[in-house]
Amino acid sequence: MPQLVDPEPGAPRVRYAVVGTGHRAGMYVDALNGPHGDVGEIVAWLDRNPGRIDYYDGYVGRARDLDGTAGLPRYDADGLERMIAECAVDVVIVTTIDSTHAELIDRALRAGADVVVEKPLTTTEEGCRVITSAIADTGRDIVMTFNYRYAPRNSSLREVIRSGRIGTVTSVHFEWALDTVHGADYFRRWHRQKESSGGLLIHKSSHHFDLVNYWLGDVPTRVYARGGLKFYGAENARARGLWPRPERGTGAGDDPFSLDLHDDPRLAALYLEPERYDGYRRDGDPFAEGITIEDNLAVVVDYRGGAVMTYSLNAHSPWEGYRVTVNGTEGRAELEVTERGAVVRDESGRAVLDPSATPDALGASELRPEGERLLVQRHWEAAEEVPIPEGQGGHGGGDAILLTDVFRRHLRVGEDPLGRAAGYRDGLRAVAVGIAGNISLETGQAVDISGLDLGEAL
Ligand SMILES: NC(=O)c1ccc[n+]([C@@H]2O[C@H](COP(=O)([O-])OP(=O)(O)OC[C@H]3O[C@@H](n4cnc5c(N)ncnc54)[C@H](O)[C@@H]3O)[C@@H](O)[C@H]2O)c1
Repeated sequence: MPQLVDPEPGAPRVRYAVVGTGHRAGMYVDALNGPHGDVGEIVAWLDRNPGRIDYYDGYVGRARDLDGTAGLPRYDADGLERMIAECAVDVVIVTTIDSTHAELIDRALRAGADVVVEKPLTTTEEGCRVITSAIADTGRDIVMTFNYRYAPRNSSLREVIRSGRIGTVTSVHFEWALDTVHGADYFRRWHRQKESSGGLLIHKSSHHFDLVNYWLGDVPTRVYARGGLKFYGAENARARGLWPRPERGTGAGDDPFSLDLHDDPRLAALYLEPERYDGYRRDGDPFAEGITIEDNLAVVVDYRGGAVMTYSLNAHSPWEGYRVTVNGTEGRAELEVTERGAVVRDESGRAVLDPSATPDALGASELRPEGERLLVQRHWEAAEEVPIPEGQGGHGGGDAILLTDVFRRHLRVGEDPLGRAAGYRDGLRAVAVGIAGNISLETGQAVDISGLDLGEAL
């Protein structure tokens, strides 16, 4: 944890507006309602769906022990500049869908606020240009919340590489497996449209591409990608005899690929009733027609320092986790993480979201327990296990440390030895791989990142 000083007594709190009041906003709302409420406060909401603003305004009202809602000012998508002026907003937290980030960042910076933005920074080359010119014109700041950097296992791998124990890195092999609960979720809603999410190479893999940039302290230069939609989507369902499918998960009964919003009161409140405002369905069928993103991806990336990465993402695995191998001139480091050992089904056939709560559910296996292991093996030596500090909470303990870095960064004394805080340039370097990968998928050719027009060189 970076060293922090206490806030000055009586110092004004930083004024935040939450832009995009969906699921992800909850992490920031809880942080400002709870452990970071002494240094920051939420002063306004913005979303195009008033039902989801109602949810959070009621939630904050209850958390503040108010009789009823918090009654914070609320704005629709057109009201960003007005909100920043009327509510004296210092910082806008952007948690809208990926393809809207660039426009909202641009408008917020130009209206005089700083920005905290969820990954990915943006989904297109044009988005990169819009953001880089807004930063150049305003001199303002962006915080990229790359929470995976903060998971102790991922910071530990960086320390191993930076210590020189495995020498100069020559290559990385990185495999990410999303299971049929989490993976399917990207095929239910806006993520499944490339124009909204950039596809998984941007929406999901920007986390992973950022990790490799961060681990190696290097910059990607060239990308070759192959992939396709091979499991989800209507065509695949028909070919495998899974047709017809329910249009939506809620009320679909015992289908293991369906999400029934009634099973989760928070999701039901955030998405079911607010459907009447915008028709946005949180629980669409992952085997629907018209999906434009890939569920199997294989990518080769070259780095400026000479290393090469082979990367794969699969979104329909029976277990969830990742494996990273880093080869160096002095040896090799291996990180293995199992986040969910199996997607098990209950007796009615539905997927069980929390297998530990239903130990008798069919299919549970002791061979793949949840856990993490970091090994280092130097040439001519036996393998050694590197202890990983215990993290608590979301994303391997990363979310809590990230939030401290976001909300108390003005109280930091000295640099974080792990160098985890990320800015817009880190965001650019991560999405550049996905943008180049998407071009490579279309053309079948390797793509030089220097040939992209991102507004500035990486
Ligand atoms: N770092 C992580 O681990 C992590 C996890 C989940 C989501 N995310 C990111 O957080 C963001 C939000 O994801 P989510 O799962 O909460 O999505 P969501 O669909 O639940 O919420 C998005 C919200 O933005 C609103 N919105 C969309 N476009 C808008 C616009 N132009 N103006 C105003 N409001 C708009 C929607 O009405 C919705 O309330 C995404 O960028 C996603 O990639 C990051």
